Amino acid sequence: MSKVTYFSGESFPLEMHKVRIIQKLTLLPIEERLRAVEEAGYNTFLLQNSDVFLDMLTDSGVNAMSDRQQAAMLTADDAYAGSATFTRLHAKLQEVFGKKYFLPTHQGRAAEHILALGFVKPGMVVPTNYHFTTTKAHITAAGGEVVELIEPSGLAVTSDEKFKGNVDVAAFERLADERGAENIAFFRVEAGTNLVGGQPFSLANLRAVSHACRRRGVPLVMDASLLADNLYFVKAREPECADWSVADIWLAMSELCDVIYFSARKLGFGRGGGIITDDQKIYESLRAWVPMYEGFLTYGGMSVREMEAITVGLDETLDEDMINQGPLFIAHFVDEMDRRGIPVVTPAGGLGAHVDAMRFLDHVDQRYYPSGALAAAVYLASGVRGMERGTMSEQREPDGSEPLAHMELLRLALPRRVFTLSQVQYAVDRIHWLYANRRIVGGLEWTEEPEILRFFYGRLKPVGDWQHALVAKFREDFGASL
Ligand code: F0G
Repeated sequence: MSKVTYFSGESFPLEMHKVRIIQKLTLLPIEERLRAVEEAGYNTFLLQNSDVFLDMLTDSGVNAMSDRQQAAMLTADDAYAGSATFTRLHAKLQEVFGKKYFLPTHQGRAAEHILALGFVKPGMVVPTNYHFTTTKAHITAAGGEVVELIEPSGLAVTSDEKFKGNVDVAAFERLADERGAENIAFFRVEAGTNLVGGQPFSLANLRAVSHACRRRGVPLVMDASLLADNLYFVKAREPECADWSVADIWLAMSELCDVIYFSARKLGFGRGGGIITDDQKIYESLRAWVPMYEGFLTYGGMSVREMEAITVGLDETLDEDMINQGPLFIAHFVDEMDRRGIPVVTPAGGLGAHVDAMRFLDHVDQRYYPSGALAAAVYLASGVRGMERGTMSEQREPDGSEPLAHMELLRLALPRRVFTLSQVQYAVDRIHWLYANRRIVGGLEWTEEPEILRFFYGRLKPVGDWQHALVAKFREDFGASL
């Protein structure tokens, strides 16, 4: 993304790439969208992609690849063991993270599985700035407990704080005193904190966390899945780093951590993942799980073509013009909604735009899943598929009680280099219309509620009959338009 100055004084994101392969999209009429969302049990995860116009469900594994990535995929060296492709990926990871060992996994949550097996014993605690769904599921399945220590600004929907993913280090010191360092499996710090709106932590905060962990002998583990956004925000927002290269910031962050894991479906514009460390003991203690669950040590469940794409994708992540595309597009999306009075998380983070469903649907009780209802309503209004990030994404306590999420967000992810500004503008317009008609929208209730990770494949139905009223209002306002 370029920082050109416009004659008009306004500013718009400007892509520093061109699109050379396209995929045709269909925008179904709203009546067809109603059929589709009913078939999907009002859960956007269960929609068929052919029924979706703009897929903003996630940026995971759906980012556009570059010509260089595609070319590299043709040079992959297909071998079960010792492929040159793995050697190239390993060398690139050593270059960008500055650490020696790499254990490949088929995606990010597989790395979480292995870390939970290696580090978490029943009764242990894993402090974190904020949990991620799959991470928490693996830690609790191993008998551990996740404790969130994000700074209070992280949970404020609107804030002037530039680093809403920062850890409350004093709270960590208190926790370590209370529970004993020996009962802390590791500290998990998540770059580009997903569930609070893709919010970054600062290098200064990571330094403080790292010092506190090292003083007490607690391993510091970084989830680097959304590191690209976090690197960009540190460069753009942290004065100390304004003149640093992306590579320097990357190495400085990595140096502060004992273990790093990542989903390459996000970091590196590919598909895969893995665990990185400089510590031989940690490496050896985790290594056995890789052939057991993932695949041999030189592919870990990834295809060689994907590994080639990740190697080039990591190289492109060093380029500020490449990694600023997401954050600048997202900032535009957020500003356009904010200007229209639509409640959004600010400042804009990485990953996507986040709409505050608690305020958008302030008449819907949190027990009827306002962000899930908003996701279904936005799909109805626009054909845009977003993702619920609120109470539905939480898991019930062992006693069956349901914790209400800190925030009820509708996430509209912007896969990198995929959508155009006019498509973003269309999404803004239809969400604006929905906001003007928000009182029509009601809540959702379960018809089938799975026990684990229920948001992925659970089914729901509207409370009342608001969906038909919404379709009727759409027709009244837009006539025959799609
Ligand atoms: N950690 C973070 C911060 C993530 O955002 C994800 C995935 C994972 C771990 C797990 O990685 O999907 O490769 O197994 N986030 C996706 C999302 C699913 O849509 O935000 P994975």
